[in-house]
Amino acid sequence: MDRYAVIGHPIGHSKSPLIHALFAAATGQALEYTAIEAPLDGFAATVDTFRAAGGRGVNVTVPFKLEACAYATEVSERARIAGAANALAFDGTHCRADNFDGVGLVRDIVTNLRHPIAGKRVLMLGAGGAARGALQPLLAAGPTELFIANRSAAKAAELANAFHALGLGAGVLAGGGWDDLAARGAYDIVINATSASLTAEPLPLPPGVFGHDTLAYDMVYGKGLTPFLRQARDAGAGRLADGLGMLVEQAAETFAWWRGVRPTTLPVIERLRVPLA
Ligand code: ATR
Repeated sequence: MDRYAVIGHPIGHSKSPLIHALFAAATGQALEYTAIEAPLDGFAATVDTFRAAGGRGVNVTVPFKLEACAYATEVSERARIAGAANALAFDGTHCRADNFDGVGLVRDIVTNLRHPIAGKRVLMLGAGGAARGALQPLLAAGPTELFIANRSAAKAAELANAFHALGLGAGVLAGGGWDDLAARGAYDIVINATSASLTAEPLPLPPGVFGHDTLAYDMVYGKGLTPFLRQARDAGAGRLADGLGMLVEQAAETFAWWRGVRPTTLPVIERLRVPLA
């Protein structure tokens, strides 16, 4: 049986083994998918061991996504732009790397939540790895504005400039701090890619960034109403979503990349959903 795994540290909470088992059952693919916790200084050795035992591919999660890019022999353009990979595929001595997080996010917003990005104003909160990984697919979806707001304003500006230097996001992508938001009005989509949801701290956002039609999207999943989503709801945001759909959609993209069959995602999303109440 073909073997796959998700590798991270910690890994105990991962829903990926269940998601891929559901995909395998639904598509009739015979495969095994496990979760492996690698030591913080042992990512490459853990992947080597898994490959030696016949592993065909892995998903990679925190904190190894940058190392996954360095490990691969062939890195897709979007993984290079994201500066990170979340999926590896092995073929003999060859190792391909790709990153499906951003396409998963866009697919969840546009297809599942039916919230268009084309022609809309999008606000990205955070300028770390999670934000960076989503920028190129978001830009490809055609927003009129993509503003990155971050606690460290300089980091957001640097991230936007790095994309401009790659010829991406001219006239659309910009970055700044929380103070820049008051003058910018309401956004159609506000995405939380900071790690602040994990520490229960509210972000210093002016309530005006949320309008009646705004989709507030937290990349965190399975935590119910996060501080960010509560803040958005209290400020009048019309639609709230956590990152479960993004997780399942990136898993489906990975599954299709490995197996050549794209599973249906909605039944899996429904099965794993934790109510936002
Ligand atoms: P990840 O890979 O999850 O994106 P990261 O690269 O460490 O993790 O980035 C974390 C992001 O969350 C950053 O944008 C960080 O802001 P700074 O760049 O200013 O550090 C943001 N962040 C973390 N804790 C935060 C908090 N309490 N309030 C606001 N932003 C926070």
